[in-house]
Amino acid sequence: MVTLPKAPVVLARASIILCVDDDATGIRFRQLILEAEGYRVLVATSAEEGMDVFRSNPVDLVVTDHLMARTMGTEMAGAMKRLKPHVPIILLTGTNSPPEGAENADAYVCKGDGPDVLLNRISTLLPHQSVELPPAGGWALEGEERYRVIMETMSDAVIAIDQHSRILFANPSTKKIFGYADHELLGGELTMLMPHYLRQRYRESLERYLTTGEKRAAWQGVKPVGLNKDGQEIPVEISFGEYAKDGRRMFVGIIRDISERKQAEREHAQLAAIVESSNDAIIGKNLDGIVTAWNKGAERMFGYAAEEIMGKPASILLPPDKLQEESQILSRIGHGEGMSLHDSIRVAKDGRVLSVGVTISPIQDAHGAVTGASTIARDLTQVKMAEQALRNSEKLAVAGRLAATVAHEINGPLEAVANILFLLDRAELSHTAHEFIHAAQAEVKRIGQITKLTLGFHREGERGEAELHASDLIDGILALYGHRIESLGVAIEKRYDSAGVLVADAGELRQVLSNLIVNAAEALAKKGNKLLIHVYDSPDWRGAGRKGVRITVADNGCGIPREVRHKLFEPFFTTKGEKGTGLGLWVTKSLVDKHDGSLRVRSTPGVGTTFSVFLPSKLRHPPSPTLVPAPYGRQEAG
Ligand SMILES: Nc1ncnc2c1ncn2[C@@H]1O[C@H](COP(=O)(O)OP(=O)(O)OP(=O)(O)O)[C@@H](O)[C@H]1O
Ligand SMILES: [Mg+2]
Repeated sequence: MVTLPKAPVVLARASIILCVDDDATGIRFRQLILEAEGYRVLVATSAEEGMDVFRSNPVDLVVTDHLMARTMGTEMAGAMKRLKPHVPIILLTGTNSPPEGAENADAYVCKGDGPDVLLNRISTLLPHQSVELPPAGGWALEGEERYRVIMETMSDAVIAIDQHSRILFANPSTKKIFGYADHELLGGELTMLMPHYLRQRYRESLERYLTTGEKRAAWQGVKPVGLNKDGQEIPVEISFGEYAKDGRRMFVGIIRDISERKQAEREHAQLAAIVESSNDAIIGKNLDGIVTAWNKGAERMFGYAAEEIMGKPASILLPPDKLQEESQILSRIGHGEGMSLHDSIRVAKDGRVLSVGVTISPIQDAHGAVTGASTIARDLTQVKMAEQALRNSEKLAVAGRLAATVAHEINGPLEAVANILFLLDRAELSHTAHEFIHAAQAEVKRIGQITKLTLGFHREGERGEAELHASDLIDGILALYGHRIESLGVAIEKRYDSAGVLVADAGELRQVLSNLIVNAAEALAKKGNKLLIHVYDSPDWRGAGRKGVRITVADNGCGIPREVRHKLFEPFFTTKGEKGTGLGLWVTKSLVDKHDGSLRVRSTPGVGTTFSVFLPSKLRHPPSPTLVPAPYGRQEAG
């Protein structure tokens, strides 16, 4: 059982007021009023006694009568100010005008003004002390019993020590927190409850405080840690009080074990780190729609830094036609309803419109009241574009099949026209007529090539690897696009150092080469006049010792700016706006990879661009049939 020290323990936060008055009745009621307000009151009935009490107690404020039997209260106030200038002094006067010598005091209060005025003055002069309101009747009226009950029931450890740090008293919670029984603690040095590395520092700062009154200077930046009987460190929070007994200085520490709080802080920090590192945008807002939390994912997705957007309405992320939706969502959230994943639209800082998948949940406080909403948003723009591209490629496949059918149907009448021209050419006609017939025959031949090529893109049974000549494929592609390119004033040069014998999927290789040729033509539409296509046998430039074929497509067109070069092979990267899907090079690269080849680009802005494809003569591995998604423009057999 814990024994209480004889001297009353001063709770850390109750201010001590010294009342000095030679009128016993006056002082008695003043004391009751102040105690009922939670102040600890010391009483003196003469100036001499007042000085004694003032000297030996940590008095926070003095209330003294102006006129006392033998001394003026103002004289005593002057003496007190010389001793402890920071302690405020209030003079009680019988008149409404400032008494003589009032400059020694901090304020004067007329006795006739009533207790409220005095209490008000006291609380303004004690601005930093918070006073615990006692229950009706006040602490002092219940005396030591009350303190005993408090000491025994409070969950914080309360330890009293003398100026040599010897433990004089410890309440029951001290054992719960530190593990020591009373007999182990009493008389021991307080430092037994501290880790070794803090002990010397503590002794020095107590010493300093005892001699200079300077508080805690050496403790700045030190997070207090206790040490329990098992040698484990415990994070603690400490508040100190001081009192005097028989001229000896005593200290009381109230020590709170904050391990749980620290643990909660760690868990909170861990959760915060998870939120912070999420790729999804995680946004908190209050019920007025004001942003209260903003993770890195949100920063990446929407382009606003946290400090830029916190405190602003979350609605700045919405396009104007969705503002209505936001107020509906907030009202649903206010009723505690969440919203599961749904598609929506948001606007980034740079004005980009983003397709997002959004989940919204209410945020509740500890009492279950809804205080705001958390939004998790995932950027679906790429997914939506891929879906669009897939739809486009399906449309292209349909268009391709249609074109093949038309080409097939044209072949019949075309044959008839070719036959008619053949017959006409044999007839006896004028020289001019024969010239016309030859011109018509050339055009019909071209139509024939085009229909053959259109069908070629679709030929059934062509899929899968077979030996082929790259030069044949290029001829076919140029038959289709050559005229259009030449009409731009571009000279096409074909340089076939070899036929380019390869084992490849003809349809896929045709797609690779036509993507490169069409890109070159589009660059030449802006600038330049030369397209060079070069085919030659070559070893693999990656040094694998493999033989193969290299095909270069070079133009002296607009070139590619350095800053976009790393994006060329990304899906959807295009500088052609609506006219490009940005899938050409992505598909090209995928198909070259599928054939175990490689693709390189060299470009100088304003000078021109060269794409080089290397394809091995023979495949190392049989290609896997589904290495790339059905790319745009790759038509199914019709
Ligand atoms: N020969 C070239 N000269 C200049 N820029 C080029 C050349 N080839 C490609 N590019 C640049 O690379 C970008 C991506 O090309 P890619 O073929 O992938 O897409 P696209 O041509 O824009 O669209 P599409 O999907 O219709 O082919 C082009 O928008 C263009 O800016
Ligand atoms: Mg292209």
